Amino acid sequence: MSASRIVYLNGEFLPFEQAKVPIMDRGFLFADGIYEVSAILDGRLVDNAAHLARLDRSLGEIGIRNPHDSAEWERLQTELVQRNGVTEGLVYMQVTRGVAERDFAYPSADTPPTVMMFTQAKTVAANPLAEKGARVITVEDLRWKRRDIKSVALLAQVLAKQQAVEAGVSEAWMVEDGAITEGSSSTAFIVSRDRKLVTRPLSTALLPGITRASVLKLAAEADLTIEERLIPVAEALDAAEAFYTSASAFVMPVVEIDGRAIGEGKPGPLTKRLRELYLDLARAG
Ligand code: PDD
Repeated sequence: MSASRIVYLNGEFLPFEQAKVPIMDRGFLFADGIYEVSAILDGRLVDNAAHLARLDRSLGEIGIRNPHDSAEWERLQTELVQRNGVTEGLVYMQVTRGVAERDFAYPSADTPPTVMMFTQAKTVAANPLAEKGARVITVEDLRWKRRDIKSVALLAQVLAKQQAVEAGVSEAWMVEDGAITEGSSSTAFIVSRDRKLVTRPLSTALLPGITRASVLKLAAEADLTIEERLIPVAEALDAAEAFYTSASAFVMPVVEIDGRAIGEGKPGPLTKRLRELYLDLARAG
């Protein structure tokens, strides 16, 4: 955290060290808030309109007023990215229900939300993991029933990712009733042996991934037909190819699940093609 890092808090651009939130913030006490993450590539925000639309929807689902319209959000994001000189990485946005004496029910309607943003410089396009391919493990999905809301309550995902780290792999795919729901911070896909691109249909059981939606639009260009249905773990282990998507990973090839090699144990050709197509799209703005 360099001394020159600038973050955004409640209307101000501040040095990181000066950006403080009171201990009674409901994000801190109850994880009562929503977040979003957009990638930055070549200094530009990727798929940002869709991320801001999901932010608005998530806030609406838990009754927090969106403090900004999309144009204002984008103006603030762009200023933060420029102030930090980030050309590749992420911008993180968070809105909580604000600061109030601790009480479970909502505070009075005039309580201002806490609005915060920071950037992270990071290599997202030329990521060496994408060359090598990621290994994943499956873990039980311990989450609540409204996973379509991008809530800051991420304890189950924290535990899942830690299991992955302890197993020496990159991601954990969460499993419910024998089928993969999604990754701890990504959407899961397989390519079946008959060239179907398979991913779970949208519902309250998973986050509607923004990268997922873009990749599904690119499937035809990679000569793939789409099947939105549940993916049993046994089928994933036997898939021709597998990958996961997110704002930070883009399209990340999976080469091993639970110690078992997928396909030839290296990034699959269709996955590589989808990654290229997605990068082209992201760069085109
Ligand atoms: N996570 N599923 C979950 C549970 C996620 O947390 C994420 C993103 C995704 C992928 O969504 P998208 O393509 O819109 O990024 C799917 C972000 C990157 C994070 O928590 O850092």
